[in-house]
Amino acid sequence: MDVAGFRELFPPLMDENPPVYLDNACMTLRPQGVIQAVQDYYARNPSCAGRSVHRWGMSISQTVTRTRRKLADHIGAVHAREVIFTPNATHSINQVAAGRKWESGDVVITSDREHNSNLVPWLQQSPSGLKLQTVKSRADNSFDIEAFEAACAEAGDSLKLVSLVHVGNLDGVEIPIADASKIAHDYGAIVHVDGAQSAPHMPINVEELGCDLFSFSLHKMLGPTGVGALWGREEVLESLEPISAGGGTVEAATAEQYTLRSIPDRLEGGLGHYAGICGTEAALDLLSNYDMRDLAEQEVRVNRIMSDGVRHLPGVEIIGPEDAGKRGGICSILLNNLDVQNVGILMDEVGGVFVRSGLHCVNQWFEARGIAQGSLRASAYAYNTEEEAKCFVDTFTEIVDGLTEAK
Ligand code: ALA
Repeated sequence: MDVAGFRELFPPLMDENPPVYLDNACMTLRPQGVIQAVQDYYARNPSCAGRSVHRWGMSISQTVTRTRRKLADHIGAVHAREVIFTPNATHSINQVAAGRKWESGDVVITSDREHNSNLVPWLQQSPSGLKLQTVKSRADNSFDIEAFEAACAEAGDSLKLVSLVHVGNLDGVEIPIADASKIAHDYGAIVHVDGAQSAPHMPINVEELGCDLFSFSLHKMLGPTGVGALWGREEVLESLEPISAGGGTVEAATAEQYTLRSIPDRLEGGLGHYAGICGTEAALDLLSNYDMRDLAEQEVRVNRIMSDGVRHLPGVEIIGPEDAGKRGGICSILLNNLDVQNVGILMDEVGGVFVRSGLHCVNQWFEARGIAQGSLRASAYAYNTEEEAKCFVDTFTEIVDGLTEAK
């Protein structure tokens, strides 16, 4: 792909001396079109969708309808009404976990590499008797499908739902969701997928994945903060009680009772983040000009240079498979002898390289291995160049060599 042309769309990269931005698993940068769309909403069309019938109201209602369709298209969903706007993937997962009625002994299965967003919402349901079981990863941190199948078999009829991360924010490793969905469905479970790290980086087709629910966030895919989505099969979404009920969710209400509207309205309580939805449409319009496979290839290209450039350094261990092609754009590094936060700060100070250091909200994985400080994670997006990857390697090498010598 034309990486240089793509970069030009992002104002923060067009500064005279831009940082080497490698914190994309946290959030991507936004192109000018997204920034402009957000501003245009407030300047030209600052109104409320689905309610007001004046010109501004009708216009933003149309934008919401169009953007819902574009979100559905981005993930290969057939029906736009099966896409719910949420503030982020975390909220989407909370809606699923807290919106279902659990019975004592019901089982939910996840993996040991889940973000806290796909852990805590399930743990919060334990007072109702819900049991959470986690499947351990293999030694190379890949998903253990045999262990997963055994866990499903052990849970048997009690298994109600499986919730798996599609691509891990810890190390970029992909879980074979289509295979896992098939197994889970054989046991009668609903399948939810945390797509926060996959929807931004690769082609997604929820029908091919075979899942029933799919959560993602726009701030990781060129869109504004505060916008996410929950896609789900109609019957599954209709079975959820809204965790945020109120304006817009109700068909009828008296002082004593209420009836909820059909999806998507029943799960979208209150005024939406309309500026964010305008920015979302601009982000999706931009992404639709590209083949998502080209974006993924560029990210692996950058990751391969980063991974190959640092793996031989003393006290350095990359989490996950050796092949960068199996880790998308993520190079997550354990530092056996050095302070991860310190190195993270120095990466910016020495080379202007922005990475993330710490637990990346995957506390359980580090906790299970006794690694209190977490890892140093560089995560690429398609605007990152091979030169930037080399700058990462040079800066990291200089810091590791300098700190190791000083010891
Ligand atoms: N989940 C985001 C990350 O991994 C915040 O950085």
